[in-house]
Amino acid sequence: MAVNFVSLNVVEGEILGLIGPNGAGKTTLFNLITGLYPPSKGRIVFEEKDITAAAPHARCRLGIARTFQLVRPFPQLTVLENVSIGRAYGRDSIKNRLQAEAEALEILEKVGLADRVSEKAHSLTLVHRKRLELARALATKPKLLLLDELLAGLNPSEVSASMELIQSIRNTGITIIMVEHLVKAVFGLSDRIVVLNAGQKIAEGKPAEVANNPRVIDAYLGSETYATH
Ligand SMILES: Nc1ncnc2c1ncn2[C@@H]1O[C@H](COP(=O)(O)OP(=O)(O)OP(=O)(O)O)[C@@H](O)[C@H]1O
Ligand SMILES: [Mg+2]
Repeated sequence: MAVNFVSLNVVEGEILGLIGPNGAGKTTLFNLITGLYPPSKGRIVFEEKDITAAAPHARCRLGIARTFQLVRPFPQLTVLENVSIGRAYGRDSIKNRLQAEAEALEILEKVGLADRVSEKAHSLTLVHRKRLELARALATKPKLLLLDELLAGLNPSEVSASMELIQSIRNTGITIIMVEHLVKAVFGLSDRIVVLNAGQKIAEGKPAEVANNPRVIDAYLGSETYATH
């Protein structure tokens, strides 16, 4: 069982870090929250509405967006087209193409991709593909944004730029759940952290509490001490 009786709350406006070893069930949990997989048991509630049976596109329109760990752009479309589609089919969607493109461009400026608008998505480098993935999710005007290893594979300066970006997204009022293996980043950004191991929740709390939790050290962090702030 990939996700086994995991129960968690996300508070509006917070950054919740979701960590755990490879295969712990983090991405599967995102797939359940976004409706890609149906849960065999349990409920998913968003803004007091039971969305357990809602289709992925319906959840997107309610304000839940995600990035994929293995990025999933439309490869043959341009960067601008990819993001415009997000703007045209998400929450508060815009059906006028020019207007959707204008707003898509604003988002691309924010993520640092404004100079790549005409490139085909498949030709982008990894760091740019990751930014496109984020831009596409932001274009759907989410209230809740799920980030699945957005920082993986980036170099240190790209990581710190992306961390600032994540912080600025949160400052616009978007609630974030971030899955990340970069311990320093996830502990630095998160208000609270939930730890999964083998499909189960083994810890939850403020970064400093979780970092000192023996079960978490044993299952994931190792004995090295992590400075969290
Ligand atoms: N579609 C699937 N069919 C069968 N098993 C799957 C499927 N997707 C994931 N799994 C399995 O479920 C478990 C949880 O996988 P998941 O991808 O959620 O882990 P994760 O915590 O995101 O790991 P990582 O840090 O490596 O991304 C793993 O054992 C994985 O092999
Ligand atoms: Mg994963």
